[in-house]
Amino acid sequence: MRTPFVAANWKMHKTVDEAVDYARSFLPLVDAVSDVDIVLAPSFLALPALATATGSSRIGVAAQNVSAEPQGAFTGEVSLGMLRASGITHVIIGHSERRQLYGETDAGVNAKTRATIEAGLSPIVCVGETLEERESDRTFDVLDRQVGEGLSALTPEQVAALVVAYEPVWAIGTGRVATPDQADAVHRHIRQQLASQFGEASAAACRIIYGGSVKPGNAAELMALADVDGALVGGAGLEPTSFAEIVAASRPVRRYNQKIMLSIVLTALYVVVCLLLVAVVLMQQGKGGDIAAAFGGSGSQTAFGARAGATVLTRATTVMGVLFMVGAMTLAIMGQRGTGSILSGVDGPGFQQAEPATLPVDSAPTEADEAEAAAPTDAPVEAPAATPAEPQ
Ligand code: 13P
Repeated sequence: MRTPFVAANWKMHKTVDEAVDYARSFLPLVDAVSDVDIVLAPSFLALPALATATGSSRIGVAAQNVSAEPQGAFTGEVSLGMLRASGITHVIIGHSERRQLYGETDAGVNAKTRATIEAGLSPIVCVGETLEERESDRTFDVLDRQVGEGLSALTPEQVAALVVAYEPVWAIGTGRVATPDQADAVHRHIRQQLASQFGEASAAACRIIYGGSVKPGNAAELMALADVDGALVGGAGLEPTSFAEIVAASRPVRRYNQKIMLSIVLTALYVVVCLLLVAVVLMQQGKGGDIAAAFGGSGSQTAFGARAGATVLTRATTVMGVLFMVGAMTLAIMGQRGTGSILSGVDGPGFQQAEPATLPVDSAPTEADEAEAAAPTDAPVEAPAATPAEPQ
């Protein structure tokens, strides 16, 4: 079971005081939630205050960007060592706004992702196609390139612990959310791409979250998709109550219940169809016990009228037969894909997909790590030659 991961990206909103006020309101709302990894991503300026305000809670704090360089003459940049020293646990990398407005490239995303992992923080790597790319049928090509190059040279273990955020650019801040079918198809495609690049086990453990106009009203539907493991929330994450509602909609217990309910309803319908099928077969003259006789007629022909009986029963039998086959196929397909299986939500040795990914609190650097990070010459962060200059 992958632990759901839900992050609020505040972008360029909220002063330091507003960030702290948010934490005061938000923390009690999610106090009882221990089965979702929750992360807040304020501006750089509010990071230390928010890390202090979230304190010993399970809530992680993410930067919205970082430099891949360990230190030096990079005006306007912030290093991973600085983030670690302020208790920051995560970094959003390659958000489409940074790619589009500040010229970030896949090579730059790769450098930042590797540096972030090396520094002991957890990257949230964003990918997603523009409207023009989707309309020209290039969605999967674009995603394959972003995933392929952005995660290049990572180990299968690093990918297993990674969070990839699929954010279709056309859905960001537009109120236009991807349909469940669109999100489902893309998330499945990304997981297949990860499997071919890093192996099945890494792909199964990696969390792929959705971003783009996620709201309390549409979160549950998106979270119910088998390959959607959480959300990266913009606008609806600016308000503690609405973000808490999205967190609640992402809880695995809720997803598990939805699966069970769907499975129970479909199975009950299927049982009714089976019983009706048996009944209409038995009611036909000469078949089984000719049940029509039990209702006072001398046979099915009498019960339904000579001509009508044959017509009604024949039609009913055909309809039930078709429903029987469709029902059998639906339940078989659901069982195959794991969406309806009661066992799919069960933790246990036989059903565990992979090692659970690291929780925010677990990824906090140790004192030894910090000492190591404080000595830049001991552990320089490797950056490929292709690292682009930040135009910021
Ligand atoms: P909205 O939820 O406002 O569409 O923003 C999504 C986003 O960009 C999160 O990173």
